[in-house]
Amino acid sequence: MAEVEPGLKVYGSFFKSHILGCPTIVSMDPELNRYILVNEAKGLVPGYPQSMLDILGKCNIAAVNGSAHKYMRGALLSLISPTMIRDQLLPKIDEFMRSHLTNWDNKVIDIQEKTNKVGLRNNTLTKVPMAFLSSLKQIAGIESSSLAQEFMPEFFKLARKIIVSLLRTLIEERRASKQIQHDMLGYLMNEEASRYKLTDDEMIDLIITILYSGYETVSTTSMMAVKYLHDHPKVLEELRKEHMAIREKKKPEDPIDYNDYKAMRFTRADRNLENQNSFLIFGGGTRQCPGKELGVAEISTFLHYFVTKYR
Ligand code: HEM
Repeated sequence: MAEVEPGLKVYGSFFKSHILGCPTIVSMDPELNRYILVNEAKGLVPGYPQSMLDILGKCNIAAVNGSAHKYMRGALLSLISPTMIRDQLLPKIDEFMRSHLTNWDNKVIDIQEKTNKVGLRNNTLTKVPMAFLSSLKQIAGIESSSLAQEFMPEFFKLARKIIVSLLRTLIEERRASKQIQHDMLGYLMNEEASRYKLTDDEMIDLIITILYSGYETVSTTSMMAVKYLHDHPKVLEELRKEHMAIREKKKPEDPIDYNDYKAMRFTRADRNLENQNSFLIFGGGTRQCPGKELGVAEISTFLHYFVTKYR
């Protein structure tokens, strides 16, 4: 948004510019945007600036079209289907959010820092966005391991070569150990469980895409949701009522499960995450965000612990 704001002020909602070194026409006209998104099959070819493809890799979803796009998208959707969210991902998200939101009592908490900040000092990562850590846990069970310490700074420096080599080593180690891990990478590598047979290069690009597409969107939306709740106390009250009702039926240490998540009707509707198709927050057409349900599950879990643990 920072790139387009000056243009918006001077030229209105449709103008020529440059983004990430690429000549670009910026459109903030919802009708035109919807037309472009739903007409991919009619000669409009989606594309991203070369600098993004250099980071995400040539097999990533954004770089491929037609049947290759369908296949990679199918492989991704199989990792984040409602069943996977219910059985595999939600428990990990719950565990992560619960521990991320502890010890905030009697302290001044910088929400922007807790949800969204990246900090690099002397090549060492000092702050990591919440959703990035959460994704690492879901993808490869990585938490505070040494791999996370190596991996994250390279990711934020956008050092693709090093990230690829770290992921390649991880895949080789897992293959050698023959143990099946219950995370996204484990599922992709398990030829019996997954009907998508990806090469190592495709797996690596898919993982980088999930990390890259998931962390900033989820972190920023969580931060904006907290700001919105601060500015709208009545909405906060209603939201808290919904989450307290869910918590009251459980012991404090019980995780939230898929039924609880589905019961968060006000949370999902009020943040308009599910209703914002009209605003294209998740895009549209064949490129509509495949991570929508996962993103909503992460933000809803974050808000659950945020409003039930703190006033
Ligand atoms: C609140 C959270 C999120 C928002 C607002 C959001 C928004 C979007 C939007 C607007 C697009 C369309 C881009 C385009 O038309 O080119 C998109 C695509 C995409 N999103 Fe999300 N996203 C979110 C969460 C996630 C998560 C958690 C993942 C991780 C799996 C993810 C993965 C993707 C991928 C892979 C694409 C490209 C799809 C394709 O080209 O077929 N997103 N997202």
